[in-house]
Formats: sequence, structure tokens, C-alpha cells
Amino acid sequence: MRYLIFTDIHGNLEALLVLLKFAQRRKIGHYIFLGDLVGYGADPNEIIQKVRALKPLSIIRGNHDKAVCDHDSIQTFNPIAAASIHWTKKNVKKKNMEYLCNLKKGPVTIHNHILLCHGAPFDEDHYIFGEFDAAEAFAHVTTPLCLFGHTHFPFVYTEKEHIVDGTFLSGDSNEIKLEEGTKYLINPGSIGQPRDRDNRAACAIYDSDTKKINFYRMEYEIREAQRKILEAGLPSALAERLTLGI
Ligand SMILES: [Fe+2]
Repeated sequence: MRYLIFTDIHGNLEALLVLLKFAQRRKIGHYIFLGDLVGYGADPNEIIQKVRALKPLSIIRGNHDKAVCDHDSIQTFNPIAAASIHWTKKNVKKKNMEYLCNLKKGPVTIHNHILLCHGAPFDEDHYIFGEFDAAEAFAHVTTPLCLFGHTHFPFVYTEKEHIVDGTFLSGDSNEIKLEEGTKYLINPGSIGQPRDRDNRAACAIYDSDTKKINFYRMEYEIREAQRKILEAGLPSALAERLTLGI
């Protein structure tokens, strides 16, 4: 079975459309989304509708999805992120809001061997940045594979015989082979707001037969996504950062 792993779309329809085209050309048996459909971008409604139509789909909520639904205060958000949460709250249609607000909180185990979380398995809001965070995360993972998002960086951490290692997956065409006896924490990178100075949308495909995970980057119509952000009256920094990939 081929799983498409994607996360952190953040209301960026142009990036999602490229991903959906990419998925059409590959036989995807299952879609996995790790949270943050909305926030930052100008197309939350279209994103929710398009993602929920993917089948079969495993999906969990992200911190922005949660904040829009008032599950959490937005005290921890910076002013620009908070402004986009307020805008999103105002602009998401009722039916889409219902879907957004009923998303499950991670961690969630699927198909007996894959754990899904947004930030970390012990806290959906925690960022896994570095081996120390990864070691704490591994302590909460019993499956061989845990998928996470939230940082917007494509990354793989491994744990074998209590040694934790992390690798940033820059550029194109990265592939890893899952080994017996090693646990993996994998982040596919972000679809709608990459932050690793590569402005292309990021995703991964896990093939459970070959035990390989491939990482991809895809160019999309950044200018169109930016135009919509500015037209919507969202902070201009949210448009500018898309070009820079930060
Ligand atoms: Fe995010």
C-alpha cells in the first residue's frame, strides 16, 4: 500500500492543487494528513472541502485548526499568526467549521503500525526540533513508525539501541528504507508554508510493501497564493514568506 503523507497546508490552495495532481499520477491507497488545514492562507474553505473528499483518509487536527475552533487560547500565537486565526474564524463557512472542529486530536494509531501526531506524541503543540525532543517523543512511541508535522521541516529521526539520530532532508529525491529494529519519527515537510528556505511544497510517500519512504518537493503558483493573501487583507508578511520559504 502506498500512503501519501502530507501536513501543514495552512490555507494554501495553489500548493494543495499541485499535490492533488501529483497524487493522481501515483497509486495512492491511503491519505494521511497531520494537521493544520487552515491558518495563514486565504483559502480555508476550499482546502477543507478538497481534503475531506480524499478517501480513504486518516486526519488529525493541528494547532491552527484547534485555535480557530476555540479549543485553545491564541495567547501563544505571534501577532501575525493570531491575525490570521481571527480572519479564518470569520471566513470559514459553518459546514466547514463543523468538520474542522470535529477533527481528532493526535496521537492516533492507524493500520497497527503508524502513529500520527501534529507536534509530538506527548503534546500536539510541542515542536520536535533536535535529538533531545526526538528522544522524548520516542519514549511515547511503541509503533515502528511515527509521523509528525508542525515544524514545517522535512526531517527523519531514528532510534536504535537507545541512540537517537536526526537528519534534515534537503532538496529533492530523498529516500529512506525502514530497517527492522529501528524506530522512525518522520516529518514530510509542509505543503503550504515550507520553512526550510526551499519554497516548494513538500510531501512524502510511504510504501508499506517495499518499506521505503520517498520525499518530494513540488513547485506551485506562489504568486497566485500571495495575491489572494493580500487581497484578503491578511498580513503581507504571510505572502512574502512564501517566496523565501521561511
Ligand atoms: Fe503548521
